[in-house]
Amino acid sequence: MTDELHVTQYATGSGAGTLVLLHGFPVDHRMWDACAQYIDPEWRVLGVDLPGLGRSAHTLPTDTTMDRSATHVFRAIRAYTSEPVVLAGLSMGGYVAQAALNLFSKDIHGLILLDTRSQADTETAVENRLRIAEQALREGSSAVVLGMASATLSPETVAVRSEIVAYMRGLIESQTPQGIAWSQRAMACRADSSETLAQWEKPSLLIVGEDDEISPAEVMADIAATMPNARLEKIPHAGHMAPVEQPRAVAHAINTYLGTL
Ligand code: MLT
Repeated sequence: MTDELHVTQYATGSGAGTLVLLHGFPVDHRMWDACAQYIDPEWRVLGVDLPGLGRSAHTLPTDTTMDRSATHVFRAIRAYTSEPVVLAGLSMGGYVAQAALNLFSKDIHGLILLDTRSQADTETAVENRLRIAEQALREGSSAVVLGMASATLSPETVAVRSEIVAYMRGLIESQTPQGIAWSQRAMACRADSSETLAQWEKPSLLIVGEDDEISPAEVMADIAATMPNARLEKIPHAGHMAPVEQPRAVAHAINTYLGTL
């Protein structure tokens, strides 16, 4: 069993900097595959599989927290660069990025938050997560979260793009119950990051799919309003998995932001 997270290097870049892509739940770095190919080739692009998921399935730290996830991410990417990086985290990946702001602020040059939240879970949400974690382990499968394949996509995508729904189902079905449980338990005890974001003064980009029902545009607009130097970009024809549904549009927003750094 290895303690290291798996990193996929999508592009080596030509010196502009390093963009680190952090995926959502219950998938892995492959949710970024389509979007990564449109990122400005001057940038090194890394996709990290978070604890328990994708090719990091066997990395299940005993400390089940977003802080631990963030620590592992920074340990893994140090094999590629010692310079400060730009973090782009979607939903759970956004929680990890927010944890990293507290722990590794000097190592973070830019911040992109996609389809995520800053507040901690409600009591009901925590209970739900713990129930899902137990069910996944009991059933020995990721089936308990298979409904997220459609729930994370816009109704339009679900209605007319069956290949995207099938892609999401494939990503979810390939995850282990241990990874599902670890992630749910870590998200359940995550801290509220509102204050951290309110103090983050570097330019930041927020991206949300217009049809996101899990972290809706209003929630993301509220986060942007509390940050001193953040801009919100809404992506049409996309739900919670905006980079999967509209990879070019998301990459365009990211490239425009990277160009300002
Ligand atoms: C995700 O996409 O990462 C999840 O919706 C995050 C969550 O369950 O809060």
